[in-house]
Amino acid sequence: MTSFRITGRAPLEGTVEASGSKNAALPVLAAAILAEGPVRLERVPEVGDVATLIEVLSELGLRIERAGDAVNIETIDPHPVRARYELVRRMRASFCVLGPLLARRGKAMVSLPGGCNIGPRPIDLHLKGLSELGAKVEIEEGYVAARADRLFGAVIDLSGPRGPTVTGTANVLSAAVLARGTTVIENAATEPEIVDLGQFLRALGARIEGLGTSTIYVVGAEELGGATYRVAADRIEAGTLLLAAAITGGRATVTGIVPDQLRAVLLKLRDAGFTIQGSKDRVTVMSHGRPRAVDVTALPYPGIPTDLQAQWMALLALADGQSVVRDRVFPGRFAHVDELKRLGAQIELRNSTATVTGVERLTGAHVAASDLRASAALVLAGLAAEGRTVVHHIEHLDRGYQQLDEKLAQLGAKIERVALSKYHGV
Ligand code: EPZ
Repeated sequence: MTSFRITGRAPLEGTVEASGSKNAALPVLAAAILAEGPVRLERVPEVGDVATLIEVLSELGLRIERAGDAVNIETIDPHPVRARYELVRRMRASFCVLGPLLARRGKAMVSLPGGCNIGPRPIDLHLKGLSELGAKVEIEEGYVAARADRLFGAVIDLSGPRGPTVTGTANVLSAAVLARGTTVIENAATEPEIVDLGQFLRALGARIEGLGTSTIYVVGAEELGGATYRVAADRIEAGTLLLAAAITGGRATVTGIVPDQLRAVLLKLRDAGFTIQGSKDRVTVMSHGRPRAVDVTALPYPGIPTDLQAQWMALLALADGQSVVRDRVFPGRFAHVDELKRLGAQIELRNSTATVTGVERLTGAHVAASDLRASAALVLAGLAAEGRTVVHHIEHLDRGYQQLDEKLAQLGAKIERVALSKYHGV
């Protein structure tokens, strides 16, 4: 078991560069299945989820070689079509191979993704979209079995009960690029990660319009070539680092990013009393004393991302006043609440609404990470808490953040990664 041992209350200062986006890299890697030629992806983050997807793709006949922050990909066997349970359950976004496999190989057997700590993760919209492209989709012994000799363009409405589906849009878009005729995806996700996927598909030769809007138009191609593509920076990592500077009362700059992708987050930080300076590829946050209480509701893009909701709650635990936190994307995404309360946070959770009453101080303790973003929230709270905090089960965090401890230490945080046997105290 790996843990972070943190000594709190060191204000973060300085500059750090964001890594490539995990949530852009995953659908882009899966879409490499579509390429007839070699693919080189740059700024692919070295995180657990990417490693798992590379394992899935290797079993699907792709040779993938990492060279620093790049990966070189070539299909060496176009026959495998099965993404097995053991791997998909480990990383649900492996489900993104469904659309590319179906479109390029005419068949896909992808395990239904497992359960998840942040709430129900249905896939009905993925299957609806692929069926409307002409696929025969069945559930067979825990696997989605999809077949289609040829896909045909269609008008597909991907709207769901809680807004668009990001990876659902990725699966349908990645299939439509090889369908015969034109596809219109209505109520598509507008997240930057979908724009990144679409730009990669265009680099392969796909014809796509409307990326970043809720209506995406695709003219299907007979085949797609190869490409070199640089994955976008991780806006969620950047937001996490900016919130880390904010919660410690520091002043930090995150570089290599697109500030506008964090617009809702930056405006909310201003409401909470922080000064924000943005330029072409960087954002600086400056603290001026205790944060003001603000209400945060996580929404689909361009709203405040659900993947930053837990981190926001950690900051608001120290704010001057009472804040209300809701998550319209994953209404039950509050696994971090009980652990934050172990650090002294005052949070009342009722009917998917968290009321956070800010306190003057958090106090260090042992806490356990449960999912990727809840782990980040606990790290941020530990950075601000008095004394020592140990965040256990950091493997959850390593799935989606590349060397977060090193980035935070670069900004002056007192944080170290320790491998703890479960019986030794710290
Ligand atoms: C992606 O998950 C991200 N993962 C998540 O990040 C992120 O929280 C989420 O989008 C929302 O932004 C990746 O990109 C790998 P959705 P995804 O389909 O695509 C409902 C992280 O921490 N829905 O956009 O699985 C669903 O229940 C992870 O990096 C349906 O109803 O999420 C949810 O309420 C966590 N039917 C809403 O839509 C469907 O078929 C949004 O889910 C699919 C989804």
